[in-house]
Amino acid sequence: NPTLLLLSPPPCINPISSPGLARLEYRGYDSAGLAVDGDRKNEVFAFKEVGKVAALKKLIEEEKPDMTKVFDNHAGIAHTRWATHGSPSRVNCHPHRSDPTWQFAVVHNGIITNYKELRALLESKGFKFETETDTEAIAKLAKYIYDEHPTIDFTTLAKAVIKELAGAFGLLLKSVHYPGEVVAARKGSPLVVGVRTQKKMKVDFVDVEFQENDIPLPAETASHNVALRKTNNLLAPPDKASLLHRSQSRAFLSDDGVPQPTEFFLSSDPSAIVEHTKKVLYLEDDDIAHIHEGQLNIHRLSKTDGTSNVRAIQTIEIELQEIMKGRFDHFMQKEIFEQPESVVNAMRGRLNLEAKTITLGGLRQHMTTIRRCRRLIFIACGTSYHSCMAVRGCFEELTEIPISVELASDFLDRQAPVFRDDTCVFVSQSGETADSLMALRYCLERGALTVGIVNVVGSSISMMTHCGVHINAGPEIGVASTKAYTSQFVCMVMFALSLAEDRASKYQRRMEIMEGLGRVSEQFKEILKMDQDIKELCQKFVSSMKTAPDFRSAGTDSICRFKHQKSLLLLGRGAQHATALEGALKIKEISYMHCEAVMSGELKHGVLALVDESLPIVMILTRDNIFAKSLNAYQQVIARKGRPIVICNTGDKEFPGEKTDRIEVPHTVDVLQGLLNVIPLQLMAYWLAVGEGLNVDFPRNLAKSVTVE
Ligand code: F6R
Repeated sequence: NPTLLLLSPPPCINPISSPGLARLEYRGYDSAGLAVDGDRKNEVFAFKEVGKVAALKKLIEEEKPDMTKVFDNHAGIAHTRWATHGSPSRVNCHPHRSDPTWQFAVVHNGIITNYKELRALLESKGFKFETETDTEAIAKLAKYIYDEHPTIDFTTLAKAVIKELAGAFGLLLKSVHYPGEVVAARKGSPLVVGVRTQKKMKVDFVDVEFQENDIPLPAETASHNVALRKTNNLLAPPDKASLLHRSQSRAFLSDDGVPQPTEFFLSSDPSAIVEHTKKVLYLEDDDIAHIHEGQLNIHRLSKTDGTSNVRAIQTIEIELQEIMKGRFDHFMQKEIFEQPESVVNAMRGRLNLEAKTITLGGLRQHMTTIRRCRRLIFIACGTSYHSCMAVRGCFEELTEIPISVELASDFLDRQAPVFRDDTCVFVSQSGETADSLMALRYCLERGALTVGIVNVVGSSISMMTHCGVHINAGPEIGVASTKAYTSQFVCMVMFALSLAEDRASKYQRRMEIMEGLGRVSEQFKEILKMDQDIKELCQKFVSSMKTAPDFRSAGTDSICRFKHQKSLLLLGRGAQHATALEGALKIKEISYMHCEAVMSGELKHGVLALVDESLPIVMILTRDNIFAKSLNAYQQVIARKGRPIVICNTGDKEFPGEKTDRIEVPHTVDVLQGLLNVIPLQLMAYWLAVGEGLNVDFPRNLAKSVTVE
């Protein structure tokens, strides 16, 4: 149940006055909640509400109008949720508690896979569960261990809890027994720590020292753990090397070496904290961060060979401006219009048009290995998968390496063979998609070289792959991916060009493609000028659907009625099949209209039966070497009285206006044409959804980052 959490002890980020929590909604937005210490001993204020953060804010204002003072003075944890275990409801919403007095409170991103076993154990010890979530077991387990060992310190307790958890988590734990303290831990789910000091910091990293058995668990806790495992057969026996290691933070000295007051903010990503601080460090798997009295200590749950013992404090580049809508009505619209710039950012410092070179620094060391690999396997989900489909032909042509493109989930379902001499390319906007991450682990285990093509810096995929390229698209907030698609596309074309750099036979072709890349941004601007025309086309389409004859009342049979359900066909051939797939996904996910992408060559093999004068059809018919074949599909549709909307090249006389509505896009090199063709489809999806009055940025049932299998 992805999405999460943010805190700053003290003051807690105030959800009433700060937009930070709401910015996490793109990770999930079916409910929101928070818990914060009160002034009195053992006092906790907790609020939960179904819906978005605005609903939570309203609830707090109604129930406790003077909360701002509390937020200003105390540590708190908060969460926005996207349900996996348990429906969206107040009770299932985070934070979860150990008991009605909130002795322990937890917010969690990820899935605890052994929660049923933990729940059974805790129920047998008398705990009463209130929710259907996996997370509740964490809070109750903390209380159970604390009750057994009331003198235990918070990090040791947290470690004892975390050692019992299987699955993935980024979590924050608070307790009335440790007022003003917070423990954060991650395994498989991202967690970033924001650091704010008044003066400039002297050093820009935090040491994580691995001192073997430095602070062993109290004997009674260790034996307790053994007992827990023995009774429930939950986990393997504890090993000595996995005892808690601690280090003293030394990052928070001013230039003159004086310790200074420091505030910390934890979040699953920096967008929630960027207005408070730009200094962040990313926790790694098995890190446990303890924050208390202006100090951050990072401990390791286990010593892992090869793990760096430094967590560098980085300056995040995201400007607050970048994560706000600006002059646009929706993030998706803003992100569509950012594409002339985002593609330039993808190429900046990489494509040198004068020298006609491509430099991908993140791949340099592995280029020879990749050129010699026996297969290039692209693995991704959703839109990212479509971008891989879109560049497959380009890779095949330029590199002559066998290419396969895989949906991460299906790849894992099949347990597809992977070998040491394969190169596996993981393409992901978020870098956190669970299916892609699992496929990555699978390929790593089999010894393949792994490459990440990722947007989010510091994300799991970017950290776990051997090498890669950041697409530099900037934060993508709209759930429907747009600018990430075009930036992934551009980065992968550069990757293919780079791989073919030593092939003399491809020289001319490479030059042609590089020049084409140099024109993309301006061509995007040209296409975006058609925004209002596309809007009108969509309005016409929406109103024609609403006035479609009601076959039901006309008493026609059920087959006839079905074909007047909202549905749309999107046809493309060759590389434009990927464009059609991506366009259809955009339309489905935000306008909730059924839309099917069909490879034009397949039309005559069945789908043609659907075509008549009323079925809405969009055909991608830009000129390439298979244009004549694509025209066959057009003729087949016209012959069935279909009246398709055609995406064609500017001025193409082949498609007379009386037979079709035309959307004209500039012509470019065939392998790049899909970049241009997808823009009108993004705009169509956007205006169809707006025309239906739908929530474009937060479509129902969907979340931006799919961190569950
Ligand atoms: C569609 C969309 C999704 C994602 C998919 C993979 O607009 O955004 O289909 O593309 O969930 O996400 P990433 O690219 O973050 O791995």
